[in-house]
Amino acid sequence: MGRAVVQLTLFGLLLALAASQPNKDDWDIYSFHINSTVIGRYATTVITSRVANRIEESKEIEFHVQIPKNAFISKFRMFIDGQVYDGVVKTKEQAQQQYTQAVSRGESAGIVSSVGRTMEEFKTSVTVAAHKKVTFELTYEELLKRTRGKYELQIHTRPMQPVKDFKVDVYIYEKAGISFIDVKGGLSTKALANAITKTHADNKAWVYFYPTVDQQKTCDSCGEQGMNGDLVIVYDVNRDTGLGDIKTSDGYFVHHFAPSSLPRIPKNIVFIIDQSGSMSGRKMEQTRIALVHILNDLAGDDFFGVISFDSQIFHWKRELVQATSVNLEEAKEFARNIMERGATDINAAVLEGARMLNAHPREGSASILILLTDGDPTSGVTNFEIIQSNVRRAIAGKFPLYCLGFGFDVKFEFLEKMSLENNGVARRIYEDSDADVQLKGFYEEVATPLLTDVTMIYLGGTNLTQTNFSQYYNGSEIVVAGEIMDNDIETFSPQVVAISSSRTLTFSTTNTSVEPSTGSVAVGLLQRVWAYLTVKQLLEKELLLSGAEKEKVKKEVLEKSLKYSFVTPLTSMVVTKPEGEKTQVLHKPKEGEAQQLYRGFGRLNYAMGGSSQFSGHSARVLVPSYASTPTHHKVTRVIGAAPPPSRVSHQTPSILFTRFAHQTLFS
Ligand SMILES: *[C@@H]1O[C@H](CO)[C@@H](O)[C@H](O)[C@H]1NC(C)=O
Ligand SMILES: *[C@@H]1O[C@H](CO)[C@@H](O)[C@H](O)[C@H]1NC(C)=O
Ligand SMILES: *[C@@H]1O[C@H](CO)[C@@H](O)[C@H](O)[C@H]1NC(C)=O
Ligand SMILES: *[C@@H]1O[C@H](CO)[C@@H](O)[C@H](O)[C@H]1NC(C)=O
Ligand SMILES: *[C@@H]1O[C@H](CO)[C@@H](O)[C@H](O)[C@H]1NC(C)=O
Repeated sequence: MGRAVVQLTLFGLLLALAASQPNKDDWDIYSFHINSTVIGRYATTVITSRVANRIEESKEIEFHVQIPKNAFISKFRMFIDGQVYDGVVKTKEQAQQQYTQAVSRGESAGIVSSVGRTMEEFKTSVTVAAHKKVTFELTYEELLKRTRGKYELQIHTRPMQPVKDFKVDVYIYEKAGISFIDVKGGLSTKALANAITKTHADNKAWVYFYPTVDQQKTCDSCGEQGMNGDLVIVYDVNRDTGLGDIKTSDGYFVHHFAPSSLPRIPKNIVFIIDQSGSMSGRKMEQTRIALVHILNDLAGDDFFGVISFDSQIFHWKRELVQATSVNLEEAKEFARNIMERGATDINAAVLEGARMLNAHPREGSASILILLTDGDPTSGVTNFEIIQSNVRRAIAGKFPLYCLGFGFDVKFEFLEKMSLENNGVARRIYEDSDADVQLKGFYEEVATPLLTDVTMIYLGGTNLTQTNFSQYYNGSEIVVAGEIMDNDIETFSPQVVAISSSRTLTFSTTNTSVEPSTGSVAVGLLQRVWAYLTVKQLLEKELLLSGAEKEKVKKEVLEKSLKYSFVTPLTSMVVTKPEGEKTQVLHKPKEGEAQQLYRGFGRLNYAMGGSSQFSGHSARVLVPSYASTPTHHKVTRVIGAAPPPSRVSHQTPSILFTRFAHQTLFS
């Protein structure tokens, strides 16, 4: 109990609440199933938890899972005593209104879910009568994103007790054929090896994980509380050298384009490294290590530049130089000697990086600008909008800008906007022992440009998702979805035009028309993939707009989210609960927001060792101890994110699942 005592002292405010903490022995999760079906790289996962109240009185029973950040929840339901309670997606305003009304009657309890590196927490509870049962069923959907030559489906399991009937099933169907499949993650250990089975035929695979109760207690990241860890299914599909994989059905199409065996294009790359005082210590050290590794990986015909900056700019060289071994040695020496000091002039640094790339001939090569920073601009131009507009003007669409935000003192949204406005992406680098690996991993994603100026053309297609891409990298994939006009597959003709070094390449279906993929995809699935991609891209677009344009895009996101029942940053899911239940809010915080609030907690918790696999970096921030029974809603109260749970409650019971913010698209 040493840990519990420490915690109660640390979280003194929780003390009084300890007595009311749910006791897990009062209920039994007698069945816990996770069923994930991946068809054409679109994953639909259903988590079903069946729980019995074992005591003589009614009991509050929790359902608490983690889902990938990139996913949209599309369904939640509870079955209690022969009744079904179905979730309905509403606009945030509608849902909030219902919630506010309940709050004004003193009926609400807030539960904050956290944002980890790749996962978000999802939690609710319901009161179940003596000796009755409840079934929770949650469905979420995500389009798997190919990076570094593979797709990864992450499944987190932490049922909080050993479960007799515990099953994870993953089915993968892939018309193009599966080239390899592996099972990784913290649960893929020796102790559990015989619980994991992988079957793999040409175009389908089935991975299942059925651990016994004993195995659930004795594996590495497990204990009396059962399992706590991840299974990560890693796979890739067969590829051709041409137009790629096009599926059509019900008037929709989805095109996966990732040609293999193209030659690499030499790149011009400039690294802009923040060396402001806040980088001091491990962050700076890891950055130096990563930079040296990255420089080692440059190809002989690449050109590169390195700038470090605080309130001033420090050049290694004023112009780009070729990655010869002599130059690389010198640059590595420069990298090893980057020292932290001073403030942060992001504006000047990015403009200087852009100047260097602009001064270098781009013909036949791919230019890339990478900014690594750990803080807000504090010197020079500090106004976000002015920096963004300066940077936009300097880059003028000629090359992508990737922004890496190190830790949680960065205004991530600013980096995200700046990247998206310049054909790039922003990525958070988590302050952790593997930060150098994260940095290097990101670099590897863009290390090998194969095509530039990729234009995807669909004659006979309409309502297309994004069709222009500035660069295509080895190991990644371009996905476009749309409608086929009048569902006329005969006249539907896809084509890709892109530049490889200085040559223009055209990929097309020579003369043959696209074959309808009848039978191989479920009815309505491609439409959902289209809707998923459309909503994701509109949310990015909305971030960059303002005024009437922003409202218009918001409206569109809202319409589609409601139609396809996606819980997005603009919608919430409301579930009516049995009579006499209090209202709850499942709040999905903004990327980074939870960490800001809970950082102190997270550090303490980490030091106490109350962390796990993925949560070790992330979800830990919300949870005083991973080994103890849930105390999360109490933590919520401490920081005042929501009103206290009311024991006495009356009616209008509902739960709101809300995504309050944009998701990061690149986890
Ligand atoms: C998993 O879901 C798929 C699709 O809904 C279904 O066909 C399959 O039977 C389910 N498997 C299990 C083990 O429940
Ligand atoms: C692209 O990646 C694959 C492995 O994923 C590798 O076999 C191939 O050589 C790479 N192509 C280039 C041009 O580096
Ligand atoms: C597709 O676009 C047309 C206009 O080009 C629009 O009328 C139609 O509603 C759109 N379909 C969907 C499903 O959004
Ligand atoms: C896409 O690129 C093509 C050719 O480069 C250009 O004509 C077209 O306007 C671009 N479309 C968008 C939406 O940017
Ligand atoms: C495509 O059609 C053209 C004429 O329309 C013909 O000359 C050519 O041989 C055809 N190519 C294939 C691969 O069938």
